[in-house]
Amino acid sequence: MSKVKKSQKDLSREVGLEIGSICGKYFLKLEHLHYGYWTSDLEVDITNLHIAQENYVKFLISHIPDGVKTILDVGCGTGEVARELLNMGYQVDCVSPSSFLAGKTRELLGERSNIFECRYEELDTEKRYDVVLFCESFQYIKLERALENTARFLNADGYMLICDAFRKDVEAKGSQRGGHKLSKFCDLAREYHFELVEDLDITEQTAPTVDILDDAVKKVGKPVLQSGLRFLRERYPIASKFLIWKYQKQLKKVREKYLDGGRTAADFKKYKSYRLFLYRKIL
Ligand SMILES: C[S@@+](CC[C@H](N)C(=O)[O-])C[C@H]1O[C@@H](n2cnc3c(N)ncnc32)[C@H](O)[C@@H]1O
Repeated sequence: MSKVKKSQKDLSREVGLEIGSICGKYFLKLEHLHYGYWTSDLEVDITNLHIAQENYVKFLISHIPDGVKTILDVGCGTGEVARELLNMGYQVDCVSPSSFLAGKTRELLGERSNIFECRYEELDTEKRYDVVLFCESFQYIKLERALENTARFLNADGYMLICDAFRKDVEAKGSQRGGHKLSKFCDLAREYHFELVEDLDITEQTAPTVDILDDAVKKVGKPVLQSGLRFLRERYPIASKFLIWKYQKQLKKVREKYLDGGRTAADFKKYKSYRLFLYRKIL
C-alpha cells in the first residue's frame, strides 16, 4: 500500500485523537472515540460518557442488516467496536491511518482481524465485504474517494453504514465548519449508485457530549494551558516571546476553535446533523 505524506491537518487530527484516546481511557475509562448516545434516562455528566458510548455501539450494531457476514470497519479507533462485532460472529477487518491506534487495535484483536494501516483513500485490497462501516470516521475522509472506494470494496448488494455528523446548509463559523455537507453527500451517494435504506437523525442524542467536552476544555484545558504559558513567560521571557510571536497564528486558531466558546451543544444542533445512514449498493 503506497503511503502518502500526511497533511498538517491530518497529523493534528490524528494526534488529537491519540491524546483523546489516552486521556479518555485513563481518566474516564472510555473505550471509544465517538460522541456516544445519550438516552433520555441517562444523566448528562462526564462520568456517564462511557455509558453513552456503550449505548451508541448498541444502537449502531442494531442497524446491521440480517445476513451480513463480513464487515470492514473504516477508522476503527481503538478497535473496540470491531472486537464487539467479532465476538458476535462477524468477520471484521479494520482500516486505521494512525499507527498508534492501529497498534492498540492489533493488541486487542490479535490474529482475528486484518488491520490495514493506511488512510481509507489509499486502501488497496482484493477483499470484498457485506458492510463498510464508518463509525464517526466518515467526516475525516475525502467524500468522493470514500464513496468510490466503498462501492469498490462492497460485495454486490452490500451495505454502507455511516454514523456521523454532517454539516447542514447553514453558513457555519470557526469550530463548526468541519465535516461533509449533508446535501452534497446525499446527492453524491445517489450518483455513486447507493440506495437509501435508513436515515435516522440522532443529533439530540449525541449533542450533549459537545457541552461536556466544552466544559472540560474550559475548566481543565484552558487553565492548564495558561499556567504552562505563564511558566514559560516567567522562566524563559525572551524565548517565549519569540515562540508566541512565531506561532501567533496557530495559537489564535487554537484559542478560537477550542477555548473561546462556540463549541456548545446548541451550536452543534444549529450547524450539524448527526445521522445514521444505511445505504445499499445497487448496480
Ligand atoms: C472519532 S474517531 C472514531 C473511532 C472509532 N470508530 C470509534 O467509534 O471509537 C475517528 C477515526 O477515524 C480515523 N480516520 C481519520 N482519518 C481517516 C482516513 N482518512 N481514513 C481512515 N480512517 C481515518 C481515525 O484514525 C479514528 O480512528
